[in-house]
Amino acid sequence: MTDRLTIRQPDDWHLHLRDGAMLRAVLKYTALQFGRAIVMPNLRPPVIDAARARSYRDEIRAALPPAFAGAGPGSKFEPLMTAYLTDSTDPDQLEDEIFTAAKLYPAHATTNSAHGVTDVAKIRPALERMEKIGLPLLVHGEVTDHEIDVFDREAVFLDRVLTPLRRDHPGLKIVLEHVTTREGVDWVRAAEGPTAGTITAHHLLIDRNAMLVGGIRPHMYCLPVAKRATHRVALLEAATSGDGKFFLGTDSAPHPISDKESACGCAGIFTAPNAIELYAEAFDQTGRLDRLEEFASLAGPRFYGLPVNQTRVTLVRGEAKVPARIDVSDEKAVHPFRGGETVAWRLEFA
Ligand code: DOR
Ligand code: ZN
Repeated sequence: MTDRLTIRQPDDWHLHLRDGAMLRAVLKYTALQFGRAIVMPNLRPPVIDAARARSYRDEIRAALPPAFAGAGPGSKFEPLMTAYLTDSTDPDQLEDEIFTAAKLYPAHATTNSAHGVTDVAKIRPALERMEKIGLPLLVHGEVTDHEIDVFDREAVFLDRVLTPLRRDHPGLKIVLEHVTTREGVDWVRAAEGPTAGTITAHHLLIDRNAMLVGGIRPHMYCLPVAKRATHRVALLEAATSGDGKFFLGTDSAPHPISDKESACGCAGIFTAPNAIELYAEAFDQTGRLDRLEEFASLAGPRFYGLPVNQTRVTLVRGEAKVPARIDVSDEKAVHPFRGGETVAWRLEFA
């Protein structure tokens, strides 16, 4: 049994950091674990142009704790910025070097997506430009039609939207984000052209029972929502297969406890404090810890055409307690995934 595992420092290819007090409360967790993170643009208001992306990146850098200055853990963290696509995105904005990728939120699909895209036909000029300059398209893959069951929204999106989009833009780099279904896994595997899928730690560890059995558990609710167990098995197979089309994206999405534990609780699971440890648990379940480095640290940079991180981190087997709440301000706190319980691995800093 492997009790220690040293891997190249991982990156998080899908992360929500928010801004203001929430950013200051959550950033350090990601910066300690990951070399880089693709930062989602669904702020209020969203990050739709280069100037706003630049000021947001400045805000993120300024929010790193002073202790992270110098050469220690967290000091090299690099936020990679994304553009929030709208029906009227100016393709010229996407040429700005601040952007590592652009994000397609179907309008009203999830948190802060009201300004998202109402019809993919409307962003054709943006997609053509992205294809030309090699800017990856990151996709929240769910339809929003009211008549489609929430558990079917990913699979229907693949048929109705993503398959034609893949065909019409053969050179476009496409990432199907937070894949949650067997259909999503199969779609990524079969897709031609530069195609990848990110997988969250929570979708590798929970199915919908975790959210609905014994009472409604709002901290297990996210979008796309966790599906039945057979889909979790498909995700585990994909993540641990060694296929470089699948790589790490936590979708860690902090919300104040008061917004989650509510009559209309919002979507998002906050995994950042123990993200890589949670992935290690999932890989260990399938006896494939040897493939964690490919998934967490190598496949993502290859897809994005970026160098791998030079630093290494070590995971050590051993129970570690997760705090039940992390304070954001005097009134607000967030509840991390597994809060009040334990994770089976610890991260050791050299
Ligand atoms: O669960 C989610 N939370 N899914 C998303 O797509 C957005 C995210 C958020 O921003 O809270
Ligand atoms: Zn997300």
